[in-house]
Amino acid sequence: MDITIIGTGNMARGIATRALAGGHAVTLLGTDADKSRALADELSGDVRSGAVGDPISGDVVVLAVWYQALDDVLGRYAGRLDGKTVVDITNPVDPQTYAPLTVEAGSAAQEIAAKAPGAKVVKAFNTTFAGSLLEGRVADQPLDVFVASDDDAAKAVVRELAESAGLRVLDAGPLAVARQLEGAGYLHMAIQPGVGGTYASALKIVS
Ligand SMILES: NC(=O)c1ccc[n+]([C@@H]2O[C@H](COP(=O)([O-])OP(=O)(O)OC[C@H]3O[C@@H](n4cnc5c(N)ncnc54)[C@H](OP(=O)(O)O)[C@@H]3O)[C@@H](O)[C@H]2O)c1
Repeated sequence: MDITIIGTGNMARGIATRALAGGHAVTLLGTDADKSRALADELSGDVRSGAVGDPISGDVVVLAVWYQALDDVLGRYAGRLDGKTVVDITNPVDPQTYAPLTVEAGSAAQEIAAKAPGAKVVKAFNTTFAGSLLEGRVADQPLDVFVASDDDAAKAVVRELAESAGLRVLDAGPLAVARQLEGAGYLHMAIQPGVGGTYASALKIVS
């Protein structure tokens, strides 16, 4: 699988690490080509780098940016995400206070789907912390990745990506469930003071 990750921050590092562990090709696109090159140099496997705005060769694009940067990214790639599986990992929060934001569309993922109607949007990875993605496990158990999308084929692509990286995938249903997933992502942040505050925990379903 040929995966493009927009962003070079914590989640870009975590998802790139897992995707490379799964044997996939990864292209990192940074706001500055030096940033993506620096991250690529730290990773091992089939990893390339470039700048935001570069053409996207693969069929899977992970938007590893804050909610507030989505409009800029979608604007730069207007029409160029058509037909691609676009993975939205965001938890819409105020960047200063970390308070959750109310998104008129219902969720960030639904907003992306409305603004990039040709893209196959999948909500995923928004409940897994960046640090835990480096190993893919917490408490010796694989991370759970909740996925929601209206496109079953795109959802299957994200399932393959996550499972090949050693993660467990739980199908949360249609894209509208992204609202609940974003709530769960926020909940996972909100409880941190009670679990050590190190963002080293994982949301997991046991049965
Ligand atoms: N961190 C977590 O554990 C975690 C867990 C679940 C979900 N999330 C979600 O994942 C997303 C990324 O979080 P993060 O922790 O990886 O953030 P981060 O470390 O701050 O990284 C954000 C990245 O976005 C880039 N960026 C900023 N503006 C951009 C633009 N206009 N166009 C393209 N790239 C832009 C930044 O580049 P510059 O450095 O050059 O500004 C940086 O590489 C957020 O939406 C967050 O809610 C995070």
